[in-house]
Amino acid sequence: MLNFILSIIEAFILFIPGFIANPAAVITGGHFPMDWGKNFLDGKRILGDGKTWTGYFGGSLIGVVAGFVLTGLFLLFGISGSVSYGSTIPSITVALLAMSFGSLTGDVTGSFIKRRIGIQRGGKGSLLDQWPFVLVSFLFLLIFSRGFFMAYYGNIIGALAILIITPPLHRAVNIVGYRMKKKDVPW
Ligand code: CTP
Ligand code: MG
Repeated sequence: MLNFILSIIEAFILFIPGFIANPAAVITGGHFPMDWGKNFLDGKRILGDGKTWTGYFGGSLIGVVAGFVLTGLFLLFGISGSVSYGSTIPSITVALLAMSFGSLTGDVTGSFIKRRIGIQRGGKGSLLDQWPFVLVSFLFLLIFSRGFFMAYYGNIIGALAILIITPPLHRAVNIVGYRMKKKDVPW
């Protein structure tokens, strides 16, 4: 039981960069729409003005920085033997890049689907706002950082825990963002 709870806590803490990257795009975003204002075959915007290159790269890089800060904390607390993104700086960097860019790539994927089913930019996507960033982040980790992914999310428990925790966490973060007037809508 204790091991079960510990593995969920580890999975959650290690995913913090993925969680941070997404809302961090709000800070750096707003310039250069990723679809350059173009429409898709259905005549609707490919992604919409809510997905910009400055948000994509800024959010992802803030996620990577957050991961290095966490790595420093793991070392400081002497737990880097059991919780870490890797054992060398290159492997840690690759894992953090995969997690953070996966997070923002998943966010873009969610918006692409939202536009196709007719939800306007900023409209409530529910799980389409909440799950794609986690799923694509996992996919990128599986491809680029398989050892790390398998160690913490490969037994399904860690991955499932993240998927279950994300919707209420996403909602809470957005309500805070709305109250702080960083977001126009509380979702
Ligand atoms: N943002 C950005 N670039 C990104 C992601 C986010 O500039 N790649 C910024 C935009 O200012 C966006 C805000 O962060 O409006 C909030 O992100 P999000 O809720 O994901 O976008 P929405 O505006 O809700 O658009 P969508 O309906 O496409 O999700
Ligand atoms: Mg939104």
